[in-house]
Amino acid sequence: MRLGPFIGASFAVAAVPVAALLALAVTGSATPGASLAAAGACAAAAMALAALFARDLHLLAETLRHAALERQHDSAPPLALPRFPALQRIALAIGRLVRARDARTAEVGRLSTANEAIVEALPDPLLVLGEDRQTRRANKAAREAFGDDIPAVLRHPGMRAAIDRAFAGAGPQTTDLQLPVPMPREVRASVFLLDPPLPGGARAIVVLSDRTRERALDRMRADFVANASHELRTPLAGLIGFIDTLRGPAADDAAAQSRFLGIMAEQAARMNRLIDDLLVLSHIELDEHQPPLGRADLAALLQRVVAGFEPEAGRRRVTLRLTLAPGLPEVAGDADQLAQVAQNLIDNALKYGRDGGSVRVELAEAPPGQGWPARPGLLFTVADDGLGIARQHLPRLTERFYRVDAGRSRAVGGTGLGLAIVKHIVSRHRGVLTIASEEAKGTTCSVWLPVEQS
Ligand SMILES: Nc1ncnc2c1ncn2[C@@H]1O[C@H](COP(=O)(O)OP(=O)(O)OP(=O)(O)O)[C@@H](O)[C@H]1O
Ligand SMILES: [Mg+2]
Repeated sequence: MRLGPFIGASFAVAAVPVAALLALAVTGSATPGASLAAAGACAAAAMALAALFARDLHLLAETLRHAALERQHDSAPPLALPRFPALQRIALAIGRLVRARDARTAEVGRLSTANEAIVEALPDPLLVLGEDRQTRRANKAAREAFGDDIPAVLRHPGMRAAIDRAFAGAGPQTTDLQLPVPMPREVRASVFLLDPPLPGGARAIVVLSDRTRERALDRMRADFVANASHELRTPLAGLIGFIDTLRGPAADDAAAQSRFLGIMAEQAARMNRLIDDLLVLSHIELDEHQPPLGRADLAALLQRVVAGFEPEAGRRRVTLRLTLAPGLPEVAGDADQLAQVAQNLIDNALKYGRDGGSVRVELAEAPPGQGWPARPGLLFTVADDGLGIARQHLPRLTERFYRVDAGRSRAVGGTGLGLAIVKHIVSRHRGVLTIASEEAKGTTCSVWLPVEQS
């Protein structure tokens, strides 16, 4: 205990009664002995009171000092309470305030951790920029997508212009960028200014969403429309030309008329086929993600489809042979769609096979191993001994409208959609399609289909 305040307090309490007692002794109103004894008792009581008061004040001061610390140390021993009731109430109130503040601080800490976790888990790359436009923070997606190239991304002219505009107060900015690093991609960048800046110096947020896939899909869609229109326009232009000829130069030429009408019927049939194929394709694409519910007897189905091709095979003098392993189980699938698969593959084998050659259609249980899935499945193959397909075309055969030799395909009535339809049906059935071919030897298309839908 410091002595100064103690003496001062003792003096303040005892000064008046001691002075009064001494005055009584001096004026003879009380005996000097009794006055001195009373003055001594007063001084002692004052000192005791002052000691107690000084201790309580010291405790209160300590309580306030602890409260001023950022956080209470749980290990620190609790302070004693002052004895004076008023001071005791003050000390208890300080304790309550401190507990409330600590709870709030802990809550703020939890919220900030949650915010960090959310920013970190965002699927799109996010950068936090400081006033100097340097990266203060990059979330996980940004680190994974750009790594050490983040400064290069921020230096991209389009990006820099958007950041400049945002910092100049032009509001949120969005811009599409083609980033060459770390690999070419198309990105939509959005820049938001933080006004006022966040504690820690965060001044702006940049979100980079990868649009490469979307843009590729947009281009594919545009290509598809362009291709489909082109495929339709060719026979349509033919029809219009013949109509003009029939009305004009060939108006009175019966022989030419019947020849032209024959060609026109062919062109119209071709347009019809194309539209049918497009409709089939869009229909299959719509429910490609829903596995088929029914079951199909592939063996019986193949017998029907192959029988339907007999006349065509006869015309081309092609030996069409069907080999079915005995006792095959049904497969999980849509019989109409599987018939379409068989139809398109056998049609190709006849169209692009060798006149006078052979086409072999086989159905058997899938041999274990050999690259087929391990689950029970059937293997359906169509093999021809025709011209074959050069290796570089194989990966693209199932693209819509892709034809190795467009002239030849068109001459035999092809639209380039047959294998695209096969691919979509097989993938809806969770099956596998492979096309193997050797130039001048022939082509084998194989379809693996699961017996049970997984
Ligand atoms: N068995 C095959 N032998 C050689 N080339 C083939 C064979 N099957 C397909 N092709 C080639 O693959 C291309 C794409 O075949 P796809 O079946 O998708 O279209 P298409 O036969 O031209 O037209 P569509 O089937 O729509 O009438 C064909 O144009 C052809 O060039
Ligand atoms: Mg075809």
